[in-house]
Amino acid sequence: MKTSIVVPSRRQAQRDDLSSLGEPILQTRQLSLWYGKQQALDGVTLDIPKNKITAIIGPSGCGKSTLIRCFNRMNDLIPGVRIAGEIFYHHKNIQDPDVDPVEVRRRIGMVFQKPNPFPKSIYENVAFGLRINGFQGNLDRRVEGALRQAALWEEVTDYLHKKSGLDLSGGQQQRLCIARTVAIEPEVILMDEPCSSLDPIATAKIEDLMLELKRDYTVVIVTHNMQQAARVSDFTAFLYLGRLIEYGPTKKIFENPDKKETEDYITGKFG
Ligand SMILES: Nc1ncnc2c1ncn2[C@@H]1O[C@H](COP(=O)(O)OP(=O)(O)O)[C@@H](O)[C@H]1O
Ligand SMILES: [Mg+2]
Repeated sequence: MKTSIVVPSRRQAQRDDLSSLGEPILQTRQLSLWYGKQQALDGVTLDIPKNKITAIIGPSGCGKSTLIRCFNRMNDLIPGVRIAGEIFYHHKNIQDPDVDPVEVRRRIGMVFQKPNPFPKSIYENVAFGLRINGFQGNLDRRVEGALRQAALWEEVTDYLHKKSGLDLSGGQQQRLCIARTVAIEPEVILMDEPCSSLDPIATAKIEDLMLELKRDYTVVIVTHNMQQAARVSDFTAFLYLGRLIEYGPTKKIFENPDKKETEDYITGKFG
C-alpha cells in the first residue's frame, strides 16, 4: 500500500496560493441557508478550484454538510429550506429556473458518510446509474474502468456478479460507492465525511484514492479529521457557526492561519 501521508511541499503550497486558484469550477456568493427559522449558513463566499482537493473543516453543526449539499442542489430535497445568495457551476447559477437539478447531480456526484451500496451485485451497483441514464456504450468496460478508478477492481474481479455490494467490508463498500459515482463520469465528486465509519487502513486507502481522483475530477471533502484534511487537500475552508472564517492553501491554514478562531480550532482548543 502506498503511504497516505502526503503533505504538500512548501513550494507547492506557495504555488497554490489563492491568487493562482486557476479557473474556479464551483463558487458561492453570499450564500445563506435556513432550515425553517434556523440559519445554518451565513454569507459564505467561496471559490472551489478545478482538479484540486478542497477540504471543508469545522466543528459539528457548523454547516459543512449543508454547504456541500448546496453544490449539487441536494438541499432541494429537504422541506422548509430557504436559500439566499448564489451558487455557480462553471459561472452558471445552478438555482436558475432553467437548470435541471438531476443534470446538476449527474455532473456533481456525491459520496456519503455511511457507505450505502444497493442490495444488488457489485456489477449492478456500478452499472445502475449508467442504466438509468440510458447508457448505450460498452457497459462491461465502463464498470471495469470505474472499479479500477476506485481502486477496487483487483479485490472484486472474481465476484462481480456473485457477491452483493452488502457482502463487502465497510472500506470496500465505500470504494464501491465511489466507483458508482465515477461510473457516470461526473466532473466534481463531493464527499461528506467518507471515512468516518472506516478503520485506519480502509481510511488510508480512500485517502490514496482521493489523490488519484484529482487528476480527473475536482474533489470537495468534508471532514472533521484535521489530519486527513492536512494529508489530502490542496485548499482548506474553515467554517464556524455557518460562517466561512478562513480559506486558503492547506499548508497556510494549518501552519500559519490569519484568524485566531482558525488557530484555536486546528490546535484543538474547541470543536
Ligand atoms: N435537515 C435538517 N433540518 C433541520 N436542521 C438541520 C438539517 N440538517 C442540518 N440542520 C442543522 O443545521 C446546522 C448545520 O448542520 P450540518 O450542515 O449538518 O453541520 P455539519 O455537517 O457541519 O455537522 C445544525 O445546526 C443542524 O442541526
Ligand atoms: Mg455533516
